[in-house]
Amino acid sequence: MDIPWWRDAVVYEIYVRSFADASGDGVGDLVGVRERLPYLQRLGVDAIWLTPFYPSPMADGGYDVADYRGVDPLFGTLADFEALVTAAHEHGLRVIVDIVPNHSSSAHPWFQAALKGEHRDRYIFRDTTNNWQSTFSGPAWTRVADGQYYLHLFAPGQPDLNWRNPEVRAEFLDILRFWLDRGVDGFRIDVAMGLYKAEGLPDVSDQSFKAVSPVWGQPEVHDVYRDWRRVLDSYPGERMAVGEVWTDSSEDLALYLRPDELHQSFNFAWLQAPWSPTAFKKVIDDTVSTVRSATWVLSNHDVVRHRTRYDAADPGTGLARARAALLTMLALPGSAYLYQGEELGLPEVTDLPDEARQDPVFLQSKGELPGRDGCRVPIPWTVDPPSHGFSPGGAEPWLPQPETFAELSVEKQEGVADSTLEFYRRALACRRELAGSIPYTLEWLKSPEGALFFTRGPLICAINCGLRPVRLPAHDEVILSTGALKRGLLPPDTAVWLRRS
Ligand code: GLC
Repeated sequence: MDIPWWRDAVVYEIYVRSFADASGDGVGDLVGVRERLPYLQRLGVDAIWLTPFYPSPMADGGYDVADYRGVDPLFGTLADFEALVTAAHEHGLRVIVDIVPNHSSSAHPWFQAALKGEHRDRYIFRDTTNNWQSTFSGPAWTRVADGQYYLHLFAPGQPDLNWRNPEVRAEFLDILRFWLDRGVDGFRIDVAMGLYKAEGLPDVSDQSFKAVSPVWGQPEVHDVYRDWRRVLDSYPGERMAVGEVWTDSSEDLALYLRPDELHQSFNFAWLQAPWSPTAFKKVIDDTVSTVRSATWVLSNHDVVRHRTRYDAADPGTGLARARAALLTMLALPGSAYLYQGEELGLPEVTDLPDEARQDPVFLQSKGELPGRDGCRVPIPWTVDPPSHGFSPGGAEPWLPQPETFAELSVEKQEGVADSTLEFYRRALACRRELAGSIPYTLEWLKSPEGALFFTRGPLICAINCGLRPVRLPAHDEVILSTGALKRGLLPPDTAVWLRRS
């Protein structure tokens, strides 16, 4: 049986605002992405995922969509998008776009009409509220001029759509077709376990992203994905969908991945796991035993960058652990999602000035929560300020880059053998070379304390999460390691790929 392209794909997330700015206004754009396609091809990824570039007031960096069929002038034009898709395909890269079905922007014509009292049932308006909270903090309800309230599980500028209204369902099928007709290879579905809310909107005692609660994970959502799957399957070329599904268990996750639903879902368990061989093993076992097509991810535009997460747990270990976790993740069966800048070893920028912060998490919590701007700082391409090659001319990037970005820039790392960038390039090249010869399944090998060894056909992956060096398993050849190996020993915070004897 032919293996679909997405099953083992390495997908690179582009947070468009912060990747590359071609227009010189300090904000990344679609032409900027197109100009950097050779970089991505050289990096060795298979696909790019573009975060929302649709017309938007940017109350949540574009996850508040005012027009699902257009491009915001900040990011370019529809022609720029089409040129990007064509050029990406010429570079051998597939294109996944973000779709945001749980809510629209309050600037969307539907919501503007609703405010005037027209078709309010496309959203969730009520005379009284319940105790639900916005994910970004504060109440999930905002009052409008005539006294009714509308539900927004995120920012007030992101009213939740009413998926019990068939008009909403029909509209999104049409939006999918609009982008499929323009050649996209897949969709990343924002808040995919959202959409439906329990009838009657009962109060809740705990509103965390749970598989099934009155707020998230209602069973009706699966029918939507069955419809979407039929649309995707009606197009040639293995079009796919990956859901942003936050659940408590891999069993709940697996529900979204039934053969007639989504192709993939993010698997946040790996990203949430502490630096521990037991935790890693449990996540891997749970995932491969319950999920049909596994995915792995360490960082994205919503979480603290993994280098900094590891550093926070054990200062000084961040970069070594980030590289070791990555090499281990790339050895696992399934596809891997990378987040822009992790190939440079970028840390979270924790000291952004308050005036610069734009994330609604920071704004809605009145500064109590730092928000997610720290992982969204524009990419340093070159050594020199003011923007490290992010913007042409003298434009200041929309978030300030710290001085340390000079040393981490692409220019600084290119061609430097032990740089993180060159390590990523080697790892992705080795993964590609091995792809044809390794089976989908993995087998555990007996591992010394603190370490984890597993094998897939000729490949052995070993990671040492412990405090002491461990002896490597028997092997013929070292393919790649994240740090120096000494006399057959694997040092702490290091991972290695070996060819099996
Ligand atoms: C998802 C996005 C996040 C956004 C939220 C609301 O979690 O990844 O960035 O704020 O949905 O759309």
